Amino acid sequence: MTDKLENKFLDKPFRISVAPMMDWTTRDYRVFARLFNPHVWLYSEMVTTGAIIHGDKARHLDFNTSEQPLVLQLGGSNPKDLALCSKIAQDWGYSEVNLNVGCPSDRVQNNKIGACLMAEPELVAECIAAMQHAVDIPVTVKHRIGIDDQQTYEDMLNFVDTVAQTGCNHFIVHARIALLKGLSPKENREIPPLRYNDVYHLKQDRPHLFVEINGGIQTLQQTQEQLQQVDGVMMGRAAYHDPYMLAQCMTLWQQTPPDRFDIMQQFMPYIERRLSEGAPLSIITRHILGLFQHLPGARKWRQALSGNNAKTLADVEQALTEMQERLYAATHCFVAD
Ligand SMILES: Cc1cc2nc3c(=O)[nH]c(=O)nc-3n(C[C@H](O)[C@H](O)[C@H](O)COP(=O)(O)O)c2cc1C
Repeated sequence: MTDKLENKFLDKPFRISVAPMMDWTTRDYRVFARLFNPHVWLYSEMVTTGAIIHGDKARHLDFNTSEQPLVLQLGGSNPKDLALCSKIAQDWGYSEVNLNVGCPSDRVQNNKIGACLMAEPELVAECIAAMQHAVDIPVTVKHRIGIDDQQTYEDMLNFVDTVAQTGCNHFIVHARIALLKGLSPKENREIPPLRYNDVYHLKQDRPHLFVEINGGIQTLQQTQEQLQQVDGVMMGRAAYHDPYMLAQCMTLWQQTPPDRFDIMQQFMPYIERRLSEGAPLSIITRHILGLFQHLPGARKWRQALSGNNAKTLADVEQALTEMQERLYAATHCFVAD
């Protein structure tokens, strides 16, 4: 890291966060992710207002205190319901509430949730105003740079300006448009090209807003480069498939990244507790497959823990010991993965 960057990080508040990801950023993943870095902000999976109001609140909202700072991401477009759920989130102990205006799935579009709301900035503003009125914790918005027939920078600026009139000042921008007709959610994360410049322009044009960029950011170096343009970086798939990059980000706070094996030693008692609660081991091990990404032996680690290959905690310990031996050998002689 250059001196210029170090100074910038010391001078200016910045934020690194792990994106909300349905079925991926579960409680188990979040407890694991937290061990890599105490500073990054973690997000829940999106929870709809209907699920909170009519469903099992504890199942949707419970978290471990170690996960903090933790944001609850809400899906919905009814201001009253969103206000109620924001209040519930605050009382539950969340640090922040975020409204999802980026998800392109058909299922959510039919319920007026997600990216389709970019076509209705006034409604989003009404929702955010109601949420802010209900709570003291910050309310933020995660959105796209555009959708189907609103793809220009000016369209996005109009969306942000309309919502910012409520006093909302933190926008997380996925730097891709979402094509709501024709592309699947997965394709909508891959096919529309990344337009980082639109997000940089937003920061330049509205310097008083806290602008966090999202989409395709995979390494510490890319994170550092983004922080020269914007206030925050949100990482999704990379933080899931290669969680150690969160540890590498410790250097942004002038701190040393923790060791992978120390992280696992801290995670083992959590796995043990979850097993004693009746959780199947595989729903926890699926989140730790990427721990040794890019290192020799990473494939064998993944194989040992994939599916139901590991049946007991002892199997996880065994995989860890073998990984340690492989890494030791690899530093002394060549070992094929
Ligand atoms: C499996 C999966 C589930 C996702 N679920 C959500 C979600 O619940 N809410 C949301 O705002 N974005 C969701 N996203 C989008 C991510 O938050 C993020 O915007 C996207 O993956 C781009 O960032 P990345 O390139 O760093 O992964 C999901 C992405 C993935 C891969």
